[in-house]
Amino acid sequence: MKILVVGSGAREHAIAWKLARERDVSEVLCAPGNPGIAACARCVPANVGPPEEVLAVAQREAVDLTVVGPELPLSLGIVDLFLSRGLAIAGPTRAAASLESSKAFAKELMARHRVPTARFRVCESVGAACAAIASGEFAFPVVVKADGLAAGKGVVIADGRAAAEAAVRAAMVEGRFGASGERIVLEEFLVGHEASYFVLADGTAFATLSSAQDHKRIFDDDRGANTGGMGAFAPSPLMTPETERQVIDRIVRPVLQGMEQEGRPFRGFLYVGLMLTAEGPKVVEFNVRFGDPEAQVILPMLDEDLSWLLGAAATGALPSRPARFREEPHVGVVLASAGYPEVTETGKVITGIDEAAGVPGALVFHAGTARRDGHLVTAGGRVLTIVGRGPTYRDAIDVAYRAASHVRFEGMQYRRDIGRKALAT
Ligand code: AMP
Ligand code: GLY
Repeated sequence: MKILVVGSGAREHAIAWKLARERDVSEVLCAPGNPGIAACARCVPANVGPPEEVLAVAQREAVDLTVVGPELPLSLGIVDLFLSRGLAIAGPTRAAASLESSKAFAKELMARHRVPTARFRVCESVGAACAAIASGEFAFPVVVKADGLAAGKGVVIADGRAAAEAAVRAAMVEGRFGASGERIVLEEFLVGHEASYFVLADGTAFATLSSAQDHKRIFDDDRGANTGGMGAFAPSPLMTPETERQVIDRIVRPVLQGMEQEGRPFRGFLYVGLMLTAEGPKVVEFNVRFGDPEAQVILPMLDEDLSWLLGAAATGALPSRPARFREEPHVGVVLASAGYPEVTETGKVITGIDEAAGVPGALVFHAGTARRDGHLVTAGGRVLTIVGRGPTYRDAIDVAYRAASHVRFEGMQYRRDIGRKALAT
């Protein structure tokens, strides 16, 4: 099987790395990929925004299956385009990708199918939003969310009325998130621990993957700005068998059935962002793709062929069962450029990668890296994910940080507390 991976981050590196080790995979291509991915896949230049460019690559290279990493091409309809040309692709159609690309759609779908989530109100105008804030319908803090994709920056937790109204104006008047902020969702603030859960669906059936916990804030102890994720570990010790059963029965199954009933069957990776509350697990958000950095800690645990699972998801042949996993904790630490998550400095020479990868139990996945004049240099905010595994979370943390200690580039920043939550659980 010849497989094309779409994207260029550490998540796509983990996907390509896993596929490249499988017997039924003859070749892995990646569009556009990065220098790390080039070690396990043939990278093909392509702009992953417009789906037509990736389609041209898939057709020219006669690939058997395509798998999409990031949400943008999914929300632009890459799956619809491939299907219309008879090409196999593992991912949701544009209509199914609404679960991530419209928070209003996701909330209303959950309401229709009685899936536990924060109480909410969708607002189409500044007046309606400010009236709802003033009415006392939601206690403070209240959560203000831009409806559309906003690269993880569209959520404000507002302590009081003034902050909530400012968040509404930023989205709806100042246009901070462009068209994504023309509608907003007000939400009740949920109290609990956050965890995520992943499944791979084929429209009807689904294979459960693993739970994980991300570290979204830039600084230790969950302080500072929200980022795409500064590190993750898997599985989550909070995901007890009882909680997992609730997530599957109350959330995953009704959402997938609801999507199918409403004519938007969901195929591909479903990322369920959860708040584990005193009343049980509730949905914070859905993503219609694998997580980054969650994929980097989950895929190395997968003890069966990803190529087979993806092929079955693309063709509607997936058996409903848990995928096979080695239950060995994995911890991933993101090494980021100075300035991330705002404007980042790039072009800094990176050293020590081979030494890091040489630490027993460690893996190095590339994100924002590039080759320039024979050197590996930084080329983005999140530069590398260093993953460690071990018999315990403590061991996995130690391996990840020992490996990370070999890597150097000017301005490198990373959290020192990734995985600590797992020790306290
Ligand atoms: P989202 O982009 O919807 O995942 O939101 C980003 C982050 O905001 C989440 O990871 C949570 O930490 C927080 N958040 C979002 N919605 C809520 C909520 N209803 N209650 C508490 N925290 C929330
Ligand atoms: N790690 C968060 C995400 O992939 O959206």
